[in-house]
Amino acid sequence: MSVDFAALKALHATAGDRHILELFQQDEDRASRFSAIADGLLFDYSKTNMDDSALAALMALLEVAGVAEKREAMFSGQKINDTEGRAVLHTALRNLDGGEVLVDGKDVIAGVRHTLARMDDFADRVRRGSISAYSGAPFEDVVNIGIGGSDLGPVMAYEALKPYEDGPRCHFVSNVDGAHINDVLKGLNPQTTLVIVASKTFTTIETMTNAKAARDWLVKAVGEEGISKHFAALSTAKDKTAAFGIDPDLVFGFEDWVGGRYSVWGPIGLSLMLAIGPQKFAEFLRGAQAMDTHFRTAEWQDNLPVLLALVGIWHNQVCGYATRAVLPYEQRLVRLPAYLQQLEMESNGKGVAMDGTDLPFNSGPVVWGEPGTNGQHAFYQLIHQGTRVVPCEFLVGRFGHEKGLEHMHELLVSNCLAQSEALLRGRSLDEARAIMAAKGFEGAELERQARHRVFPGNRPSTTLAYEKLTPFVLGQIVALYEHRVFVEGVILGINSFDQWGVELGKELALALQPVLAGEADGAGKDGSTLQLVQYLQTKTA
Ligand code: F6P
Repeated sequence: MSVDFAALKALHATAGDRHILELFQQDEDRASRFSAIADGLLFDYSKTNMDDSALAALMALLEVAGVAEKREAMFSGQKINDTEGRAVLHTALRNLDGGEVLVDGKDVIAGVRHTLARMDDFADRVRRGSISAYSGAPFEDVVNIGIGGSDLGPVMAYEALKPYEDGPRCHFVSNVDGAHINDVLKGLNPQTTLVIVASKTFTTIETMTNAKAARDWLVKAVGEEGISKHFAALSTAKDKTAAFGIDPDLVFGFEDWVGGRYSVWGPIGLSLMLAIGPQKFAEFLRGAQAMDTHFRTAEWQDNLPVLLALVGIWHNQVCGYATRAVLPYEQRLVRLPAYLQQLEMESNGKGVAMDGTDLPFNSGPVVWGEPGTNGQHAFYQLIHQGTRVVPCEFLVGRFGHEKGLEHMHELLVSNCLAQSEALLRGRSLDEARAIMAAKGFEGAELERQARHRVFPGNRPSTTLAYEKLTPFVLGQIVALYEHRVFVEGVILGINSFDQWGVELGKELALALQPVLAGEADGAGKDGSTLQLVQYLQTKTA
């Protein structure tokens, strides 16, 4: 049954221009009542315009949509990705001590643990130098070649966990633009570089093209005879990794029930494991596992992924805000917004419901962001004074890792809290007038200047606060967002686990390649595409 947002929209309309500050004035416990904590992670959504009635109506959607049943269907290995006939079991990859999970009647956990043990062993030996380059020298650099989920997860987590890096340096190549691989490889020594080809399907054109370029680069240095020592693969397609010539002992496989954008927890996370070591990688998994347990067992009103999802639905489908900004006050979460763009937009950017009918409401929002404080000096102007409301999702840690720079972290945290306060409070025309009068402005000019300095306020935000960005905490945060996307998808009645919307562009790119090369005509192409082809063809190098 499709959910109906009419009652919620009516509540939103009744609230009218109500200021969020009024909600705080009416209820001195609002901050704690509109917050929840899970294993040390605090989610505060009190700076939104949701009240008890809205929350109750949102909670009711969970029952209508069958979130509890679908959650269990996911965890227990049912084929909830029904346009691809697949189970959705990224949670099995971090199920470090739970019981069996069956897919088609067969337990998958034993296989997961076997692969994890192989990864641990491989990473340990590379880090100790007992698995070495063709020359016998230890590997100093690792290049992960992959795109989408085979890139964003590892690169995001690698950047996030830099303080824990004590293995080879990692580099990431994703774009089929030769500039990317060129710029990454040019600083590296092929004699001491391990290349990991990360591709679930092992057919993705960008990845395979980059892998071939990396192979050519390596062959020049170590010859055909040395190449197998320098390549590992992470894939579900062992026939294809073999055809590429990768030693089966250096292939780490996974199953089709791990979606690309949910794959960092298994073999696709190998580069991260090489960088931080198996023990720290296990802590990352443990953080996610803790969030899985929380998601599965906590009551709705205490359940962080559920609350995050309800806030998302409230802002997007009820209030009609089309985007949400993810604003980590943590420089090392620099790739989190990009990671979440894939996670959220590839998962919930769908126009049809599970049954193939048109979605009767908007799909998931546009997700974007940048670490604070950089964003403050770029796009926060629009967030504070622009005509559109952008719900903001702040993330902040109590402590940084930098010894001797604690004062900088205090400044960072103050900035984060100040931004959500400013969004909430705003600045009235009277306050702006007083400021300008104190500066000596008068009359019409005072009025004009003051109006430019008004902040409407009443702009919603949430804050996710944690102690420190450890591997465990990162695992919690990423799994939190995964489950949030799941809950939103269930409420919207869509399949969050396929991605048919990426296919058309891929097909057309393949067809355009010979047209661009002058080997095929452009019959059937539109005028603009043909004009662009012709313009580019007239250019000579
Ligand atoms: O862009 C579509 C997509 O299939 C993503 O979902 C996926 O993460 C990415 O391409 C890479 O796919 P693969 O790991 O199979 O190379």
